Amino acid sequence: MLTSKGAASRHADLLVRGGTVVRLEGSGQADIACVDGRIVSIDARGWSADQVVDAHGLHVLPGVIDSQVHFREPGLEHKENLEAGTRGAVLGGVTAVFEMPNTSPLTLRRDDLERKIAAASRRAWCDIAFYIGGSSVNAGELRYLEALPGCAGIKVFMGSSFGDLLADDDVVLRRILEHGRRRVAVHAEDEARLRERRSIAEASGDVRDHPRWRDVDSALNATRRIVGMARETGRPLHILHVSTAEEIALLASHRSRVTVEVLPHHLTLCAPECYERLGTLAQMNPPVREARHREALWRALREGRVDTLGSDHAPHTLEEKGRPYPQSPSGMPGVQTLLPVMLDHVSEGRLSLQRLVELTSAGPARVFGIAEKGSITVGYDADLTLVDLKARREITNRWIASVCGWTPYDGMRVTGWPVATIIRGCLVMRDDAVQGYPVGQPVRFDRAMAITPA
Ligand code: DOR
Repeated sequence: MLTSKGAASRHADLLVRGGTVVRLEGSGQADIACVDGRIVSIDARGWSADQVVDAHGLHVLPGVIDSQVHFREPGLEHKENLEAGTRGAVLGGVTAVFEMPNTSPLTLRRDDLERKIAAASRRAWCDIAFYIGGSSVNAGELRYLEALPGCAGIKVFMGSSFGDLLADDDVVLRRILEHGRRRVAVHAEDEARLRERRSIAEASGDVRDHPRWRDVDSALNATRRIVGMARETGRPLHILHVSTAEEIALLASHRSRVTVEVLPHHLTLCAPECYERLGTLAQMNPPVREARHREALWRALREGRVDTLGSDHAPHTLEEKGRPYPQSPSGMPGVQTLLPVMLDHVSEGRLSLQRLVELTSAGPARVFGIAEKGSITVGYDADLTLVDLKARREITNRWIASVCGWTPYDGMRVTGWPVATIIRGCLVMRDDAVQGYPVGQPVRFDRAMAITPA
């Protein structure tokens, strides 16, 4: 019930006035009123407010949710930390992130998760949830761990990428899938094949061989195995950073159980050009591949066979990236550039703004069962990303907030830019500057997902 503020009094904490509001039902000019962190009206013409954001000429999107970031804290803060990572997020128009468990220590237990939540308190600029890593040491407890507040779900690395988290054995994988019911997020690369083929990279020392070492079958075999196990166990999956045309074809017949993430890196960069231009800066797992894969990802994305876009923000320092390949670590930053890069694709006509919003807001909310986020709806969290579709800007390393201090898109000119970020009614970014203080809170999930901890 609304008392001193709200519909009855037509006075809000925050009013976003005059923007083109993008909803799944369609777009149109509207004023949005926010009270106590929630949207209370999307038809708020004539309302007053403590704070008014003028959105004329701008598009108002539901807050962008990036469900794959590595913020490296604890243990690897020379690459990234929760404050800088989330600051980059809001500068890039992102309002919530899900953080990955390959930190040091790994996020495997209740204590590890609670320490991350405590470390994010009053330091996170956006809302945040944390994955628990699925492994042989905690497989039996995952049912209880995945239900903890602030947990985004379980993440499994089938192939080693960066850090020590690995579950490559079928017995362990099946135990993980049998213990719990939330959707399991999977890095699908086949560890045995990666080991077998590492000599390719070692022999050449040439990063252009990265997609040859970690080839199509490395990804496809792992995806096929885990999808088969999901069918046997009835467990829903989310396949992260799908990178091959072959996996896209396979996953088309598993839509009821298996959701799909693709990355702006895989949609934007292309082999071998990216390796020739960027060297090991473009090295990531699964690799950026040749044009035919990029085309297949775009086709799937346009045809509704992709559910989410995540950045896989995976920062390493320039010094680390400068080591000779393959000692150079895999991963590129991306949380801050996700939206500008994708808005540029919108401007180039590669996807509609509506489709982008489905992939960055409604998609993550549906796939992960996020409570009261993911669309501009009365009663939902007032998470809004304001963008100027006409702004022409250049992405530069100087703009990047990440501790690592670089982006693979340095020097890229884009059309479309996030100009304001609002999280639960708080304006935290305007015109490339953060404002106020870090308001981030743990993301909440639908109660139906929760199983009472024993
Ligand atoms: O390239 C990658 N780097 N892929 C991953 O899955 C992990 C990540 C990292 O943590 O650096």
